[in-house]
Parts: sequence; structure tokens; C-alpha cells
Amino acid sequence: MEKNFDVIIIGGGPGGYVCSIRLAQLGFQVACVESRKTLGGTCLNVGCIPSKSLLNLSENYFKVKNEFNNLGIESSELKLNLTKMMNNKNKSVLTLTKGVEYLFKKNKVTYLKGQGSITAKNTVTVIDDLKKKSNYKAKNVVISTGSLPTTIPGVKIDEKIIVSSTGALSFDKVPKELIIIGGGYIGLEMGSVWKRLGSNVTVIEYLDHIIPGMDKEISNEFLKILKKQGINFKLNSKVTTANVVKNKAVVDFTNNESAKRQRFEADKVLVAVGRKANLESLNLSKMNIKLDTKGKIKVDENFKTSVENIYAIGDVIRGPMLAHKAEDEGVVVAEIIAGQSGHVNYNTIPSVIYTSPEVAAVGKTEDELKKENIKYKVGKFPFMANSRAKVNNETDGFVKIIADEKTDKVLGAHMIGPHVGTMISEVVIAMEFGASSEDIARTCHAHPTHTEAVKEAALAVDKRPIHY
Ligand code: NAI
Repeated sequence: MEKNFDVIIIGGGPGGYVCSIRLAQLGFQVACVESRKTLGGTCLNVGCIPSKSLLNLSENYFKVKNEFNNLGIESSELKLNLTKMMNNKNKSVLTLTKGVEYLFKKNKVTYLKGQGSITAKNTVTVIDDLKKKSNYKAKNVVISTGSLPTTIPGVKIDEKIIVSSTGALSFDKVPKELIIIGGGYIGLEMGSVWKRLGSNVTVIEYLDHIIPGMDKEISNEFLKILKKQGINFKLNSKVTTANVVKNKAVVDFTNNESAKRQRFEADKVLVAVGRKANLESLNLSKMNIKLDTKGKIKVDENFKTSVENIYAIGDVIRGPMLAHKAEDEGVVVAEIIAGQSGHVNYNTIPSVIYTSPEVAAVGKTEDELKKENIKYKVGKFPFMANSRAKVNNETDGFVKIIADEKTDKVLGAHMIGPHVGTMISEVVIAMEFGASSEDIARTCHAHPTHTEAVKEAALAVDKRPIHY
């Protein structure tokens, strides 16, 4: 029997579940298809959320072990119980995924469990765990199937010894030697977790710097801090093969400049060289849904694919692979389907790396502005001169604000330091409102807070910081 819906969303991650809820709020009959056992996609199940649990706990463990004794909080017999730590992470994940299920019930979104594909015009077929096929009719379909870890030639992920982020979130013991291929978001977040829990971590990165696309000054400072924390780096190095030999991983890599070859052994290897759009089993080519040159689904500015009434959002389309970008697109596409006007401002999408210290950015980097021939001014303020950071002994890093040379309009902000992942929101809002650096500089910031570093950086754009 075929059931009819106004919209079927394929994929229940941050893009898909948010889109489903917004559509339901707008009065549509909505169904969301999800093949994973729980809702929430990569982000809630094997990405943002479990990694943040481990980042938080490993940071606390590291501080108690290495820093607190000097600060008057003395402890003895500190013991790491990795099983408990993992259980806590799993419990947090379960609570949040169940929370999405509750929101579906509350908003009357039908939850279809199984693998969804588009099998004919306005038809979505769902195959459940028992291989039972059911067809559903929908006036509109939104594809939000997210992304999957990718690898490089010569490296096969087995999720036991050579793992993706999914495996690295569930090691049953702390690997003695951990090699990470790729110095991007995942590599550095997971590298931080396992370093703090006791692994010897080596990051092998193809480029001569970490985090491609990031402001150069921040990237250099970040590398310096991570090295100080004891993470080893092999930059400018291309991994050619990784193999498992007698329960150990053997990784071969070549220096791009000197062509010198090296071989390292490790207990585990994390492959973190990017992700690819998850388009498996959607039946795209048969439906004539076109892809772009990067192998993602081609969409117009209204998220319409090449086929009428089929939309796509999140990691399967152009733009950064970030949960909050997918969420915003989910809301906007729902409103477009409802006949409203929708718009995502891609210039104000923040990006955050949840290491310690955190790294956060929004808007343009200096390099981008130079390329675009836009003249700009820069204001910087170090956390060393921020009283709250100072008393908390977390003085690494700085805030940098970039403003247009003539109009003073804020064009970007780049931060490394304590809590900058939360603080970046202030600049995001300022940019959404078209603020100048003077607007931020003249806004009262509570004392003593880390946010005063943003105000001071804005003052520094006009060369008048007070505390530096
Ligand atoms: P990434 O694109 O951030 O970094 C991959 C790195 O691997 C790059 O630096 C690249 O130069 C390097 N690489 C590529 N081939 C290599 C080779 N043969 N040898 C050595 N290095 C090589 O990708 P990552 O870290 O896998 O993350 C995937 C996606 O997940 C990203 O798009 C990111 O936006 C998202 N993500 C976001 C997080 C956040 O917002 N905090 C956290 C984790 C992931």
C-alpha cells in the first residue's frame, strides 16, 4: 500500500531532521527516512557529539593529571577507566538521538526506518532491516544523506587497526602509538583526545601546514601549541601505503620536497583525509539527478536538483561539511518549499575546532582578501592580556578581527584560545548585522570574561586597545 506525504526527507541527520521539523511546523505532512538504528546522522551518532564527549573528558583527565597539583588541587591514585568514559559517551549519544525521536513525535513527523531511494517520479522506496520494500508517494523529496569517511589509494580502512573517525571514537584501550593521516578537523580533534589519554600521536599531513583554508597566523600558532602539547607532526608528507602486519600498522610516507621515504609503525592508524558525499543506493543516475564536478549533488540557489520537486541539502551538496550549515539549509529549503523566500549567508558560517585551546573562524581570511584585492585593517589581542584567561591559566592564543580599510565593516574573525568556539557567535551576529569593528569596540562586554578579548581586538583595529 502506498502512503502519501507532502514531503519525504531522505536522511535523519542535522540537515534532514531539522528540515523535517520545520516542514511540520509549516503544516506539511512529513516523513523522514533513516537507515541508521537511531536518528541524528553522523553528527549525533559518530561525529560531533561523541567526539565532544571524549574531548571534554580527556581534557579534564589531562588537567587533573598534569595541571591541578600545581594549583592546589592535589590528587593521588588517579586512574583512567576508559570503559566508563566510553559508556558515558554512548549514553549521551543515546539520550540525544532519542531526543530527536521525541521531537519527531511532538511535531508529528513520520519516522520511516530503512534505506530510502527515489524509484520513480514522486516515489520513495524504503527497504527495512528485514529487506521488506515499501513505497511512499511525496509531492517533494529532500535528499540529506550526509557524507562518509574517505581514504587514499594504498590505505584500506578495516575499522580495527586502520580506522576512520568512527573507529577512533571507540578504541577499547589507549593505543600506545597512534598515527593520524591528515592534519584537518578530525585528525587534530581525535589526536588531542588520544594524546591526553596517553597515546604517542604522530600526524602525517600532506601540506606544509595544518587545517587547509585556515588563517595562516592561526594555523601556525595552532601547530606551535599542539607541538608543545606533545603531538608529533610530519608535514609536507604524503602517505603512500598503510598495511596491517602482525596486528600492527605499517605506514609508508614520502617527504614532498626531499622525496625522502620513511616508515612508521603504530598500534592504530586514523585515516582523516576528508569525507565524500553519501550517494549510495539513492538511485540518482536512473532518476537523472546530476552531480557537480566534485561528485556532489548539483543544486541551484534554491537547493533544487536537476529534477523537478527534488531538493538536496547538507554534506551532499557544495559548501563546507558542517552540521550547522546543513541545519540552516534544512530550515531554508523547508521555507522555500512552503513558498517563502529563503537564504543562507555562506559568508557568516562559523567553523570551530574543539581542541584545547579551541580554534574558531568566520568570514574571510587575510589571504582571501588579498586575492580579492580588498584593502583591510587587522586588530589582534592576545589572551595573555585577558584577565579572566590569565587567572584561569589558559593564556595561549589570540583574537584577530579583520575590517574593511575604508568602511570599517567587519569582514572576518579568527581566534585561537579558551572558549573561542562559543565566542565566535558574537562576531557572526555582528557580521549578520553589517557591524563595523567600532560597533564591537563600543559594545559593553562583561568583566572579567574571555569575550573582552573580542572587544579589545576590535579596539586594536583602530590601534587603541586598552590592555595591550
Ligand atoms: P579535512 O578536509 O579537514 O582534513 C583532511 C586533511 O588530510 C587535509 O589537511 C589534507 O591536506 C590531508 N591529506 C589528504 N591526503 C593526504 C595524504 N595522502 N597524506 C597526508 N595527508 C593528507 O578532513 P577531515 O579532518 O577528515 O574532516 C572531514 C570533514 O568533517 C571536514 O569537512 C570537516 O569540516 C568536518 N568536521 C568538522 C568538525 C568540526 O566542525 N569541529 C569536526 C570533525 C569533522
